[in-house]
Amino acid sequence: MHIHAYEKLWLAAAIALILLLIGSVTYGAVGPGVAMVTDSENQIDAGGLDEDERFSEPRVEQVGENHYEAYVVAYQFAFDPSPIVVPEDSRVTLYVTSRDVVHGFEVVGTNANTMVVPGEVAQISFEVDEPGEYGVVCNEYCGAAHHTMEGKLHVVSQSEFENRGENA
Ligand code: CUA
Repeated sequence: MHIHAYEKLWLAAAIALILLLIGSVTYGAVGPGVAMVTDSENQIDAGGLDEDERFSEPRVEQVGENHYEAYVVAYQFAFDPSPIVVPEDSRVTLYVTSRDVVHGFEVVGTNANTMVVPGEVAQISFEVDEPGEYGVVCNEYCGAAHHTMEGKLHVVSQSEFENRGENA
């Protein structure tokens, strides 16, 4: 059978493209220096949160001048701690993980919103200014009482924050 020269050329070009595609996919997965999106730093044992130094005691910590970090655990069907209490005029970084199934974490009326996946630590940062109370909702279906799963974020004055009790 006679194959036209142009046909051979297109055939060769098509095969080259396929090999290039396979090559680029392979390189994207295993190439040197290529890290997958699920970075191992953010991995956590969802069943071992009680032994985890960050999440065994969910809390708010001051990490710099006007910078606070909070460790939050989501579970069926609540958030811990609740309320999350932070002082006004500060930068807040939340680390949120789940001890059971996939949840959502959304501070109502803001763009602070993340998915919370067991085995992973979600991180969100935002600025707070005036004192106020915000609702926190779960926006991923997580079971029978999903619609009741909510928490609170309280932004309080500096003096109120400093005088808060151990249970705040
Ligand atoms: Cu947790 Cu829906």
